[in-house]
Amino acid sequence: MKILDGKDKASIAEAVMLLEKGEIVAFPTETVYGLGAVAYDPLAVAKIFEVKRRPRFDPLIVHLDGPQRLEEYVESIPPQAERLIKAFWPGPLTMIFRKRLVIPDIVTAGLPTVGIRVPSHPVALELIRTLKKPVAAPSANQFGYMSPTRVHHVARSFAERVPLVLDGGDARYGIESTIISFHEDGVVVHRHGAITTEELSEHVRIIDREKSSIVCEAPGELPYHYSPMKPLRLVNGPSDATCANSSYLAFQEPQGPLAARHIKVLSPTGDLREAASNFFSFLIELDRDDIDMIYAERISEKGIGRAIMERLRKASKRHASPLPDNR
Ligand code: TXA
Ligand code: MG
Repeated sequence: MKILDGKDKASIAEAVMLLEKGEIVAFPTETVYGLGAVAYDPLAVAKIFEVKRRPRFDPLIVHLDGPQRLEEYVESIPPQAERLIKAFWPGPLTMIFRKRLVIPDIVTAGLPTVGIRVPSHPVALELIRTLKKPVAAPSANQFGYMSPTRVHHVARSFAERVPLVLDGGDARYGIESTIISFHEDGVVVHRHGAITTEELSEHVRIIDREKSSIVCEAPGELPYHYSPMKPLRLVNGPSDATCANSSYLAFQEPQGPLAARHIKVLSPTGDLREAASNFFSFLIELDRDDIDMIYAERISEKGIGRAIMERLRKASKRHASPLPDNR
């Protein structure tokens, strides 16, 4: 896999040339790195599913360079969406709309809806702008494994199976976009992410998903996900970490004795945004061959902390199946 500087115009041109030929290309976004294909090209999109070993029932997000042509892809734009577009695009908010026919079924896993976002990373924007087509892209990791926040995570996962990754530096948020859908009396959050519920609720009413009967589980919302290879257990603090042959993911500097072999601290000052930006890269570092398990501290579910805990809970449900050839 070639790693090219995404700030360089020639790198963008090469990526566009590959995408036009039906290839897939990895690129940076402000949340995590994505693995993209031209959204109109079902065969190229199929390559994404193959390379990621992603089940075909799990839909992809379509990335645009701005909201100007949104109406070409979706049937209607509710007034709540107009407000959120003004407030959060470009940025890490994915909105689910009823799709038009131009979006192939493989992108949406046969659903009548499509998730769309406008990323704010300048390299992603430049890529889509130069290509002049929407880009379908999941996170650039093996299905079920942790999302890549650094270019070397992508290079390690896909080696020879993806021709090119554009380097855009470390992802700023480190957590995927927030995914929402629209309903008569408000929006439902399908995946907590980089835009917090608090931020959303300044613009729209949020429907409590547990109390609502109108929302079905999206096929991609599996109870396990984001998993390290080693089993992960949630703990309240060092005294819960009884196995010494382990890694330990702390929120702040652990208080009291801790027997773990490897320790990472997400944010010494207790800043949840900093914790989010370190989250996947630290978890990937702690997922090592020389340990039996990973302990991760529960953190406050305020702000982006909610998105971190959602991922930790899913990671604790199951550990990933072995990856044959890419680690
Ligand atoms: O930040 C992000 O969103 C990153 C970057 C690359 O943009 N992308 C990302 O994609 O996280 P992915 O494929 O790893 O996660 C997208 C999830 C799917 O698993 C699925 O649950 C949900 O988005 N999704 C996509 N389209 C949907 C739809 N039409 N209805 C419900 N959920 C949908
Ligand atoms: Mg993903």
